[in-house]
Formats: sequence, structure tokens, C-alpha cells
Amino acid sequence: MKKAIIIGASSGIGAEVAKIMIAQGWQLGVVARREDKLNELKALSPQNVIVQTIDITSEDAADKLRSLFNQLGKVDLILHSSGIGFQNIQLDADIEIKTAQTNVAGFIRIIDTAFNLFKVQGDGHIAIISSIAGTKGLGIAPAYSATKKFQNTYIDALEQLSNMQQYHITFTDIRPGFVKTDLLNDGKNYPLLMSAEKVARDIMKAIEKKKRVAIIDWRYRILVVGWRLIPNFIWKRLSIKTN
Ligand SMILES: NC(=O)c1ccc[n+]([C@@H]2O[C@H](COP(=O)([O-])OP(=O)(O)OC[C@H]3O[C@@H](n4cnc5c(N)ncnc54)[C@H](OP(=O)(O)O)[C@@H]3O)[C@@H](O)[C@H]2O)c1
Repeated sequence: MKKAIIIGASSGIGAEVAKIMIAQGWQLGVVARREDKLNELKALSPQNVIVQTIDITSEDAADKLRSLFNQLGKVDLILHSSGIGFQNIQLDADIEIKTAQTNVAGFIRIIDTAFNLFKVQGDGHIAIISSIAGTKGLGIAPAYSATKKFQNTYIDALEQLSNMQQYHITFTDIRPGFVKTDLLNDGKNYPLLMSAEKVARDIMKAIEKKKRVAIIDWRYRILVVGWRLIPNFIWKRLSIKTN
């Protein structure tokens, strides 16, 4: 039986991946702040699901993750899906800082703890849900796109660190395009919107194949290639926004 911990399992992408894993018989630790939502997952397979509430912006997050890891025994995978994001053209500093606290400080707290747990265990797989938003700085969501770029680079760095020290840790950086979840529930129209169920199926494939980077889906793979080719003197003149 495979074992995983999903951080951010209470809704959206993380919840859909959890449902697939539960159906496949994985033993799961499910993590987020909303206990009632996590208990809905537990009800699907009470024997195989352990609920642990964690606020990743809180200093006790690492201790709580270690405790959950030890309850599960040998863990194959830690999937980090927790994150927040907002359009913020007014540059409300509170929004930008709150985004950084979750997507950078909270992310570091969880990923560093996962790295150290797998180091001691001898092997393990760390997967994160970052975003295609990390490809370029997006004017409508500065903190969101910058924090997602941070996550991409952080995983690059940890992979090198793991290899330097000859740990057997595998990394998967999953970068979806727009997904219909609470994160985009802001009344705006997003193009090429994907369902969380479809994205979760693609994430499972990327995890099974231990892909290093997975852009979901093929349309966004083409878009990202195009974006990368745009030089900065043109990028800065583009108006990329939703209605
Ligand atoms: N939706 C998209 O278009 C899209 C595209 C690309 C990437 N992503 C990324 O996918 C990930 C999941 O987002 P989603 O779209 O599935 O949105 P979502 O439904 O809002 O899910 C966000 C998850 O993060 C958890 N979370 C937020 N703050 C947390 C905190 N302080 N401590 C612990 N958990 C926290 C939430 O749980 P609680 O509120 O219960 O704590 C929830 O489980 C995010 O990292 C997001 O950036 C989303």
C-alpha cells in the first residue's frame, strides 16, 4: 500500500487528487486548516485516511507535519497543494504580503520539513503544485506570479542540494494553467479553464511517471513556450488581463 501526505487537501486540486488516491487504496494524511472538509475525505475510507489540521503560515506547522509523518510510517510522497492567489492591480500591500506568507514562508516551512524527513527516511518524492504563472511576471497578479517563480526555483535548488548530498529524493513541479476552483472564484472569466478532476488525473500521471516538471495541459504547454520566447521589451507592453 502506497502512502502520501497531501498539504492543501481540503478543496480544489488537492482534494481531487486525494479522492483519486483514496479510490486507488493509498493510505493518506490529509492536511489543511478546514477540518470539516478533511473529514469528508476521511469518510470515504476511514481506515486509510488520517486528518491533520495545519496552518502552513503558523510556526507549529513543521512539528505537526513531522507528527503526521511518524503516524503514517514510511511515506512515499508529500504533495504540496496549499496556496492562495489574487488579482491585485491596486497593489494592496496586505494582499501581496499575505500571498508571500502562504506561498513563500508557508511553502518553505513545509518543503524543508518534507526534505529533512525524506533525508532521514532514505528516500521519498516531493511534488508541488506551482503554476504556469511563474513563467513570467504577470501585471495583474504580481505576488502570485513571483511566489510561483520562487517555488519553481526553490525546487531546482533542493534537487541540486539533494544530489550534492546523495539523498534519494525525487522532485515533481506541477504547473497547471487555469483550473475551476475556489482560487479563481472571483467573478472573472478565465480562458481555457480546466476542471479540477481532469487536472487531478493528469497530476496522478505526472506523479506516477516521476516527471520533473509537468505543465498541465497541452494547450498551456504551447502557451508557455510562446511566453518564454517573448522578449522583455515586448512583454512589458502587453496587457494580459481577465474580464
Ligand atoms: N486554480 C488555478 O487556476 C490554479 C492554477 C495553477 C496553480 N494553482 C495552484 O494550485 C494550488 C491549489 O489551489 P486550488 O486551485 O486547488 O485552490 P483552492 O481550492 O483554494 O485550494 C487551496 C488549498 O490550499 C489550502 N490552504 C490555503 N492556505 C493555507 C494555509 N495557510 N495553511 C494550510 N493550507 C492552506 C486550502 O485549505 P484551507 O483553506 O482549508 O486551509 C486549500 O486546501 C495552489 O497552490 C494554487 O496556486 C491553481
